Amino acid sequence: MRQTLVVFSGAGMSADSGLKTFRDHGGLWEEYNVYDVATPEAWDRNPDMVTRFYNMRRKQLLEAEPNAAHKAISQLEKKFDVRVITQNIDDLHERAGSSKVLHLHGELRKVRSSIRPDLVYEWDGWEVRPEDVCELGSRLRPHVVWFGEEVPMMLPAMDWVRKADLFLVIGSSLNVYPAAGLLYDVPPGTPILAIDPGDLDLSSFPNAHQIRGRAAEMLPAITRKWLENEILAHP
Ligand code: APR
Repeated sequence: MRQTLVVFSGAGMSADSGLKTFRDHGGLWEEYNVYDVATPEAWDRNPDMVTRFYNMRRKQLLEAEPNAAHKAISQLEKKFDVRVITQNIDDLHERAGSSKVLHLHGELRKVRSSIRPDLVYEWDGWEVRPEDVCELGSRLRPHVVWFGEEVPMMLPAMDWVRKADLFLVIGSSLNVYPAAGLLYDVPPGTPILAIDPGDLDLSSFPNAHQIRGRAAEMLPAITRKWLENEILAHP
């Protein structure tokens, strides 16, 4: 029976692909007020500004490539059951070859009707214009979870977490709930490993251990060792 690795990734996972994080120095929330671009109220107040914010991020994503960390995670599927729970709205895990990816906060490459959330559309280009509408004629909004909105994928994510033989946190400040609350669902005997250059507060998790460093630098050697030994364990 293959061991199960559950990955919980945040913006730091894509930092080495050139995409900005949110709360680091120079992060997106230093440049934009989250209440102007990432809330339902912002959409109601100024849909053009919200649309421009996500157009700019979509444009950057089209120019970005998966980094060594994304590729290292996808390689683990050779020997392990790998399930990626990501807070990221980019598609870099998928483009690196990961086959089980669950997006807690939505997907930048999809848009949806602003009046019927079940009408979701893949969006190939980077630009959504005010005149782009759904089949019912309403404006297209990003298919992302804004602050104050429900996180519909939490239950499937919790189900995955409970199956973990190792829980790997990559590039998340663990600031945003309910997503960060998934750490409390990790089975008691399952090790938690966090890869992050910054200061994480893991004091609530006796089974947790942080490796300080950038994901693209640290992950390839760790995953190579797991593949060679055919076992998931603290490196
Ligand atoms: N490798 C690994 N970790 C990194 C790297 C890197 N190269 N660069 C930065 N980090 C770490 C930072 O130290 C920080 O802990 O990534 C984390 C990024 O934290 P945030 O910017 O808060 O991003 P995230 O945790 O994903 O935010 C969660 O907040 O704004 C919302 O919806 C948004 O999904 C996002 C959520």
